[in-house]
Amino acid sequence: MAEGWRETNRAWWDERVPIHAASDYYDLDRVRRGGDTLRPFEIEEVGPVEGLDLAHLQCHLGVDTLGWARRGARVTGLDFSAPAIETARRLASDAGLAAEFVHADVYDAPRALGGRDFDVVYTGFGALNWLPDLRPWADVVARLLRPGGFVYLAEFHPIAWVFGDAGLDVVHDYFRSPQRFDDAAGSYADREADTVHNQVVDALHGLGAVVSAIAEVGLTVEHVHEHDVSLFARWPWLERYDDGTYHFPEGRPRIPLVYTVRARRAERPAERRR
Ligand SMILES: C[S@@+](CC[C@H](N)C(=O)[O-])C[C@H]1O[C@@H](n2cnc3c(N)ncnc32)[C@H](O)[C@@H]1O
Repeated sequence: MAEGWRETNRAWWDERVPIHAASDYYDLDRVRRGGDTLRPFEIEEVGPVEGLDLAHLQCHLGVDTLGWARRGARVTGLDFSAPAIETARRLASDAGLAAEFVHADVYDAPRALGGRDFDVVYTGFGALNWLPDLRPWADVVARLLRPGGFVYLAEFHPIAWVFGDAGLDVVHDYFRSPQRFDDAAGSYADREADTVHNQVVDALHGLGAVVSAIAEVGLTVEHVHEHDVSLFARWPWLERYDDGTYHFPEGRPRIPLVYTVRARRAERPAERRR
């Protein structure tokens, strides 16, 4: 079912890069002028990054990567879309920020990054659903971390995808394998954009599957936080706040819309004394 997923998904992303770069959603001019795209809970949960080596997997246009660079991290973004990496490099240069951007598939990251290791591996918001297999992804994350380093993952909550687009009736399976399907033209950043590569191979990775994959590669899970906030109007009745986040109306029962995980690689075991 997922055969050919990489070519299908890369064509989808390559076509959307210029659309996203010109979109209000990504507002690259704001980033050029010094604007920040990281969410307050990410900044708090990751903590200070000054002087740390940070790898951002599936970095897209690099806007969040540059947010960590502004906070003093030495950043390396990686993405399998060549136009995305070119755009990210230009954006870093326009913003006057030091950042390295590498064109590679996430499953090939350890080789593409020359065997380097990092204090922080960051990945976020609309990344994991493009990957058919979690366990090899978690292996990559563990290999990129130096002893004592941690992965920080911020994602849309999988429960939000089982409902229809109007209300909270369950219409999609939570336990589904990666699926190939014809998506609408355009994208979340520009619904009206005219596009020809509209097929995707998409996965829904349950919360348990993600956390288990991370634990199975030997990382210690430090937190799994669920947040009642989203970054887009998952349903038309969510309320948009001035900071661009979306919330349940006052009094309406809430479900989590976003989750974050921090998991750490153990320090090197102390050498035994004779
Ligand atoms: C929604 S973006 C996530 C980044 C960030 N949240 C944002 O909105 O800018 C998803 C990114 O994953 C990348 N991607 C998808 N599959 C990939 C793979 N197998 N290896 C590397 N990058 C991949 C796409 O090119 C895209 O840039």
